[in-house]
Amino acid sequence: MAIRNIREIGDEILNKSCKEITQMTPRTLDLIEDMLETMYAANGVGLAAPQVGILKRIVVIDVTGDEPYVLINPKIVEQSGEQTGQEGCLSVPGKSGTVTRPNYVKVVAQDVDLKTFELEGTELLARAICHELDHLDGHLYVEKVEGELHTVMPNEGEEE
Ligand code: NI
Repeated sequence: MAIRNIREIGDEILNKSCKEITQMTPRTLDLIEDMLETMYAANGVGLAAPQVGILKRIVVIDVTGDEPYVLINPKIVEQSGEQTGQEGCLSVPGKSGTVTRPNYVKVVAQDVDLKTFELEGTELLARAICHELDHLDGHLYVEKVEGELHTVMPNEGEEE
């Protein structure tokens, strides 16, 4: 396991679309382990593969600190409601901004055995799912910010 370098805004890899995972390999399993380690080391609540320079449809999310989700080829199949709040991103260090997201989402994804499962989330989990899935299509939250980006102190607020 290793902590990987997190790509930052301006790196064109963050604007590219990711490829579906069609088979699990030792190399991809290593990537997932490294993504979890990198997310925790950076005190993030989520991380998408392109943030470590890999254009694959994989995200990891843990909004509580002890309940990691690995979502492979995730797709949002239901969403409802609305929440407006502060969002940050490990690829946009030191900044946050106001973003409106659904308050509930249901996602269909595959696990590390490529078995399909559903995950439902509300509030922060729903926000994190939406944020991370956007990364897989080359989108950063800054495109959706209402008003200006704010400067935040390190370790203040959640980063995804
Ligand atoms: Ni992010």
